[in-house]
Amino acid sequence: MSSGFANIPKTAPFSEEDVALLNRVVGPANAVQRAWLAGFLAGVESATGQQAQPAAPARPAEPLTIVYASESGNSEKLAGDIAKAARKNGLKPNVIDMADLDLAALTSAKKLVFIVATWGEGDPPARAVRAYNELMGEGAPRLDGVEFGVLALGDTAYAEFCAIGRKIDERLAALGGKRVVDRVDCDLDFAEPAARWIGDAVKVLTPPNAGGRVIEVDFGGKPAAPASTDIVEAEITEHVDLNSSRSDKETIHLALSFENGAPAYQPGDSLDLYPENDPDYVDELLKVAGLTGDEKLRNDFIKSRDVTTLSLKTVEAYAEKTGHHYVKALIADGQAREWIAGRQLIDLIATFPIALDAEKLRALTRPLAPRAYSIASSRREVGDEAHLLISAVRYESHGRARKGVASNYVAERLKKGGRVRVKLKPNKHFALPAPDRDVIMVGPGTGVAPFRAFVQERRATEASGRSWLFFGDRTFTHDFLYQLDWQDALKDGALTRMDVAFSRDTPEKIYVQHKLWDRRSELVGWLDGGAYFYVCGDAKAMAKDVRAALVRAFADVKSLTPEAAEQAVVTLEREKRYLQDTY
Ligand SMILES: Cc1cc2nc3c(=O)[nH]c(=O)nc-3n(C[C@H](O)[C@H](O)[C@H](O)COP(=O)(O)OP(=O)(O)OC[C@H]3O[C@@H](n4cnc5c(N)ncnc54)[C@H](O)[C@@H]3O)c2cc1C
Ligand SMILES: Cc1cc2nc3c(=O)[nH]c(=O)nc-3n(C[C@H](O)[C@H](O)[C@H](O)COP(=O)(O)O)c2cc1C
Repeated sequence: MSSGFANIPKTAPFSEEDVALLNRVVGPANAVQRAWLAGFLAGVESATGQQAQPAAPARPAEPLTIVYASESGNSEKLAGDIAKAARKNGLKPNVIDMADLDLAALTSAKKLVFIVATWGEGDPPARAVRAYNELMGEGAPRLDGVEFGVLALGDTAYAEFCAIGRKIDERLAALGGKRVVDRVDCDLDFAEPAARWIGDAVKVLTPPNAGGRVIEVDFGGKPAAPASTDIVEAEITEHVDLNSSRSDKETIHLALSFENGAPAYQPGDSLDLYPENDPDYVDELLKVAGLTGDEKLRNDFIKSRDVTTLSLKTVEAYAEKTGHHYVKALIADGQAREWIAGRQLIDLIATFPIALDAEKLRALTRPLAPRAYSIASSRREVGDEAHLLISAVRYESHGRARKGVASNYVAERLKKGGRVRVKLKPNKHFALPAPDRDVIMVGPGTGVAPFRAFVQERRATEASGRSWLFFGDRTFTHDFLYQLDWQDALKDGALTRMDVAFSRDTPEKIYVQHKLWDRRSELVGWLDGGAYFYVCGDAKAMAKDVRAALVRAFADVKSLTPEAAEQAVVTLEREKRYLQDTY
């Protein structure tokens, strides 16, 4: 009879021969023999007094339910961090993605932690929408006496800063939960405040006398080590504007090569790119602040401070630090929130000038954050390279021409042969399915980037599943991103079908959602056959319109009520066959 014994791992603190010997003895032992051995060794240890505390706490470890709502992985990573800390403290963590949350599970939780990001314009992360609505809805269960704490992730640049974390925190209390850890709202530089909150939360949630020192035992058979997410420097080997010179857009195809091998990325992952600010903007900012000539500050501002974002927090800090009468009045009148819309730090200082020293000005800024870009290549096809597709953000507001920091750093100041710092941002929630499954990919504009990676991967792995791409942009002639790639893929079979929507080529604007509607019967046929549906790109309008089009397609093709059609899409989401990476 097999004992089901896993081999003693090579990492065990024994010589190679000892490991072989132990495997020979313990390997064929039956369950009773192994249990006896374990007890015997534990007894010897405690008798000699030099143990190695008992691994098991005196009483069963108390469960801690950790729910995270994440889009780009930050909350998910922190959920892992708190689980680790909780386990060390003798708690028994159970980590749940809010996408999979069954609210009934919360009622049996005694201790509960939510780590929650806010997306869109104060919305929950896409995967968490269903559970979030249920939690906010009338049918949510009572949580009387459940001890809870909420950690909120967000970005002060958004008007609805940490709105979802705030709402969940309020809701848990309204449902009878007992807040035992105060909520902390984290900005983009969340590492330190989040670590502090985790430390505090675990301390508060650990019952007295729980745990003791817990020995972590390596039973071998670990999953593969996660891909390195260190910041690495890459060389730019291609820098090409994919729009024609007559387009009013500029979208850069950037090929990066890595000296020590590309980060171990998978199709669907992104790279965080570390930008620098536009020196012209920084010079203008220093000029309006009366600090021209401060080279140290100038350098710091170009390389490492966020000098464009204007948040409510910044306006409040400005009023407090300078005592500026008008800025104080703006806040007191409740008009500051409206005033900052479409404005940047430079507008605040230019409109309400006051003598500032370098320290005061610097204190108004936060660290310059990296920007994420979907990887547009597969390592199977491009080896030690990674490709990105970056659209230059340019617009005008309040009479001033504005430029997105990172996209214009790439478009205007990075050149072939130059170098840039990047970091892998894995996204296991936007991965390809098994090679024999069909995939439908909806990616207008730069949303098409990950699908270039998907198509390359499917070609390299000779995937048998079919692939269907919906792409859209402004004009066929000037904005058909990666047109030749798609033509090649259609020829060699890596892409089975492609539908395009060029919004400015016809008097009536046509978008990808219109193409989905046109092809609705085949679309529903593919989905009924098990196809995966992917959406990438604009979150504000496109992603919502695409989802609505799919609901209507189900209703029409299968003669369903709107409610039943909505349920069909919810089922796809629950089965993780409707996947989004939108921004
Ligand atoms: C997971 C993920 C993947 C992404 N992949 C890609 C990708 O493949 N390609 C790509 O190009 N981008 C991608 N992005 C977006 C990218 O990360 C940046 O947000 C984008 O490039 C803008 O950054 P920036 O530094 O140039 O602009 P910022 O300096 O951050 O400025 C952007 C801000 O400017 C303001 N703004 C922009 N347009 C207007 C307007 N018309 N009117 C008023 N205000 C405006 C908004 O407040 C906006 O938030 C992705 C984002 C995420 C989260
Ligand atoms: C497109 C987009 C929209 C966002 N909207 C908001 C918002 O409305 N409010 C907010 O506080 N943060 C907002 N954020 C910031 C995220 O909450 C923040 O980056 C967070 O760390 C993401 O955590 P996650 O990786 O767990 O999803 C937004 C970020 C992006 C990229």
